[in-house]
Amino acid sequence: MSLKMSVFGTGYLGATHAAGMAELGHEVIGVDIDPAKIERLSRGEVPFFEPGLPELLKKHVDSGRLRFTTDAAEAAEFADVHFIGVGTPQKKGENAADMRFVDAVIETLAPLLTRPSVILGKSTVPVGTAARLAARVRELAPVGDQAQLGWNPEFLREGFAVEDTLRPDRIVVGVDKAQPGRIEEVAREVYADAISRETPFLVTDLPTAELVKVSANAFLATKISFINAVAEVCEVTGADVRDLADAIGHDERIGRKFLGAGLGFGGGCLPKDIRAFMARAGELGVDQSLGFLREVDTVNMRRRDHVVDLATRELGGSLRGKTIAVLGAAFKPNSDDVRDSPALEVSGRMHLAGAITKVYDPEAMANAAAVWPTLPFADTVEDALRDADLVIVATEWKQFRELDPAATAELTAGKAIIDARNCLPAERWIDAGWRYLGLGRYAS
Ligand code: UDX
Repeated sequence: MSLKMSVFGTGYLGATHAAGMAELGHEVIGVDIDPAKIERLSRGEVPFFEPGLPELLKKHVDSGRLRFTTDAAEAAEFADVHFIGVGTPQKKGENAADMRFVDAVIETLAPLLTRPSVILGKSTVPVGTAARLAARVRELAPVGDQAQLGWNPEFLREGFAVEDTLRPDRIVVGVDKAQPGRIEEVAREVYADAISRETPFLVTDLPTAELVKVSANAFLATKISFINAVAEVCEVTGADVRDLADAIGHDERIGRKFLGAGLGFGGGCLPKDIRAFMARAGELGVDQSLGFLREVDTVNMRRRDHVVDLATRELGGSLRGKTIAVLGAAFKPNSDDVRDSPALEVSGRMHLAGAITKVYDPEAMANAAAVWPTLPFADTVEDALRDADLVIVATEWKQFRELDPAATAELTAGKAIIDARNCLPAERWIDAGWRYLGLGRYAS
């Protein structure tokens, strides 16, 4: 059955969710406070890079099932189900999440709810938020108890956001068990397609749903930092962390995924989510329980120091005046997102240490330049490589993984490469006469 729904927030999460819901047959209105974004989306243009999303968006703007507005009243008038997909960034100077955007949606939307409505929060929030907001909605909405709020966390990965939205691996819906209302019933209609394919559908209480999301991200972050900590030991013993990860990954209980050692995690989710989780645990008086996440964060940040140190050592003890090609600025491939990007931070730090860092990324240049305008950027990968004393692969884009070692050597001044994502065919580079430095391998 087709539902009328709104999605508040049209960033990576909200825009993808809105287009995905239209693809599932629903009628959708996307809402954002940024008129420039809404204008572009209304023309069928995605204001960021996400594979597959431009096609989907265009299809449904054209079909009329998807439209955009800056007017919350229009959304309240049109929709029966409202999703919240706005950001919860890290607060400046603190670990906690900044809830002002989520709060603003509730304060704006709830007073406009004059008929029975369901709000499903998707943003990643500190545990306890949903119960607070559910009460606030009942208080502010003209329909009172007939305006109900549940929490429906989102697990999508950038780069695979369309796929993850259309074919999620599980659906979690948190409801207030004391007054469950229509939330489960409505969520079952929203996700009827996935449910018909036997996608696990889990109904929990509100705090569990909130914690599912942060726990999942904390687990992923821990897994990456675990292998990166082991990589540090590999580095001083001559062991190879990739072979090690392959070997332990064969154990089904461990699994090979997210054991990619390298420059560590970044992005708009993992780093800030583990910090917000720790901050929330502190408020709840159980800070010891998540103390290990501080170490997870520290190990992760140390990878960035390590790459800068490795480059410095490789270039004779000082970066001053040295030309370094940095391939990658996005926090991961198939994304133009540079939020807390390890690649961009390493470039910026080497630049501050006096290096001429020529940064190239296939999609993230504009975002990178907005964050770090003084960095020298190259227009093409060849421009970045030209005359470089050292090459660093900082984001594992396919274009970099497939570089030809001989052709690369014709452009560069030196023949040393740091594979900070362990993504290159090491033997090929070594055979072509390169000094190859992988992280956690080859006694780097
Ligand atoms: C993450 C979660 O995966 C997703 O479920 C959640 O909804 C949002 O946060 P995303 O931020 O898109 O998604 O990126 P992800 O693919 O998880 O990668 C995060 C970071 O970890 C990247 O910087 C990536 O390079 C790094 N990473 C990932 C590693 O360093 N090693 C790995 O083995 C895997």
